[in-house]
Parts: sequence; structure tokens; C-alpha cells
Amino acid sequence: MAPAFPSQPLTRWVRPEIHALTAYHVPASVGLVKLDAMENPYPWPDDLRDPWLQSLRNAELNRYPDPEAQELKEKLGEFLGLPPDADLLLGNGSDELIQMILLTVAGQERCVLAPEPTFAMYKIIAQCVGLRFVGVPLLSSDFALDIEAMLEAIACHQPAAVFLAYPNNPTANLFARSDIERILRASPGVVLIDEAYHEFSKATFLADLPTYPNLLILRTLSKCGLAGLRVGALVGGLDWIREINKVRLPYNINILSQASALFMLGHARVLEEQIARICADRERLAERLGALPQIKFWPSKTNFLTLENRRRDDLADRLKQKGVLIKDLTGMHPLVEGCIRVTVGTPEENKIFLQALASVA
Ligand SMILES: Cc1ncc(COP(=O)(O)O)c(C=O)c1O
Repeated sequence: MAPAFPSQPLTRWVRPEIHALTAYHVPASVGLVKLDAMENPYPWPDDLRDPWLQSLRNAELNRYPDPEAQELKEKLGEFLGLPPDADLLLGNGSDELIQMILLTVAGQERCVLAPEPTFAMYKIIAQCVGLRFVGVPLLSSDFALDIEAMLEAIACHQPAAVFLAYPNNPTANLFARSDIERILRASPGVVLIDEAYHEFSKATFLADLPTYPNLLILRTLSKCGLAGLRVGALVGGLDWIREINKVRLPYNINILSQASALFMLGHARVLEEQIARICADRERLAERLGALPQIKFWPSKTNFLTLENRRRDDLADRLKQKGVLIKDLTGMHPLVEGCIRVTVGTPEENKIFLQALASVA
């Protein structure tokens, strides 16, 4: 009888760089105040739920979705204000678009470069597609780009892609525009400006697309209130988008996400109001944090705050014991050792967080 499992060890077949990875872990959040993933804490208003469900009634689940999601692309293009000669590619979340970009440029001896600490998926996806990842530390004083070190690393490593989160996760700040312009001019490959938190910062490089042929811009519907849909958008010049589209799997935006996102774009005011509320609550939260002498926090252009406990570094565990789930940044990068990242929640959630923090910090 043939053995149930192949006799060869799996390490013969699994690529060593994959074997060395740990799968991305999303902590369980049941029963906890969930402030760990930069979601919009507000559901859609009740009076929109019925019309939304109505918009799904005609979705033919027995058929594949529109492979190009043409209608959604057009509406989203108008919504984003696409410059002339730019095109749009949709992804199953912006994570998938990051993967598509890296699949497009992957190759032996090639690398991706990004400042660190930054969004973890840049490095994870680079490793998955067989690209070397080069991280350049941010300045420790204010998490600004170390522009001379970035330019030196670009000249030395000739990266196929440079990734800049604008604003950056987990440091919540916007890098200086003039520094990014120097990177755009110095980079031999593509430069991705990831504007996942655009709604909270309002800053964008969209208008710069015609100036820089190597510029790509990433947006997502996740942070403004539709994380469950998994819809991201990549904007760039026609040439780059045409090439990256070749690695896209067919039908990558499912029929329910297409219909729901289209419906949402017709009611974008609702999300805009929620975002305005979140921004105002972020300032209130920062004000309250300012009254806690043991807490240091950094200014934020996002829907989260990054903070450090001057006395204790087991904040995350202690907050969890109090029923609040935040992101522990310890172990991510030396610059954010002992820090936590907290998403701005509803006023009630923020109050619970502040009370828990005051009791454990
Ligand atoms: C900078 C940045 N880019 C992209 C993403 C991923 O977003 P999406 O939900 O569209 O995959 C995140 C999520 O936290 C992020 O912080």
C-alpha cells in the first residue's frame, strides 16, 4: 500500500523562504473592544440597509462577476478624480495589488526597498514572491524619512520597487513631500505611494502622476468604512497598469463586492460624515492622552494613534485583560519597541480604552 504521506520531507519542495515565514496572524477579537485594525467603527445607517440589500437582489450568483468590474472602475475613477492618461486596476483589497506589483517586477537579484517600520505586508509579500527586502530605518526623533540614507540605499541596491505608505503605518505621519519627490527622481524602478489613509490625511500624489512615469498610487475602501468588501485601487500610467493587469487573476472582485461598492459610491456622503467624526474623535483622544504623563504619543494623520508607555511595556496584554484589543508593536522594529497602535473607535469605545489605559499604564 502506498504511504499516506510522501516519504520526502516537505522541506525538499517548500521554498526555504516560505518555510522560514510564519503565517500572518489575526488575533481573535470576540468579546473585546476591537481597536487593532484601523477599521471604521460605524456600520451603515439603518435607512441605507434596505436599499443596499435591494441593490444586491439582481446579483446572479450562478454567474462569474464582470471580470473587469468595468462599472465599478468607472465610478471609482470619477470618485478618485483620475488625472488624464491614468488608469485604474482593482484588487481584492490593496494587499492583492501590492502582490500584483511585486509579481510583475519580481526576479532574481532584484529587491524592494521601503523605510522601516512600515506596513508589514510589503516585506511579507516581497519574501513570498522571491524578492529581497531592503529596509531603511526612519529617523528616531519624529519618524521622518532619513532621506540621505534612502537615496544612498536606492543608488546602492537599485530597487525594482520603492514602497512609501503616505501616511505611514504604524507611525501615523506623512513623510515630507520634497523627500518623496527626490525619491521619485532617484528611483530606477517603480515608486508606490500607498495612500491607504488618504481620507484622514487628505494628502495625495494623484496630481503628480503625469510628472513621474514611475509613480503608482494605491488606495483602499477598507479604512473609510468598507473593510469587509476587500476592494483596493491602483492608479498609474497606462503602461504600468497594462503590465500589472497581466498578473491579475480573472474575476478578482466578487459580484457582491462590486455591487456593494457601487452602491456605496452613490452614498459617499455617509462615509465622509463618519470620517469627519473619526478625525474629530482622534483629536479628542489625543487631548485626553496628553493628560496622561506616563504616555507619549505621536501626531497622527490617520485613524489611529501610536503611543508608548514610559513606565511599562506590557501594555497590550494588560489592555487585553481589561477587554480592549489594540496592536502591540513590540517585536516589529526597534524604533517602535514598547509602543502600541490604537484605532480611533466610537466615543464610547475610546472612553473604555482611555479608562483601561489609565488603570494599567
Ligand atoms: C499602509 C497600508 N496599506 C494597505 C493596507 C491594506 O489594506 P487593504 O484592506 O486594502 O488590503 C493597510 C492595512 O492596514 C495599510 O496600513
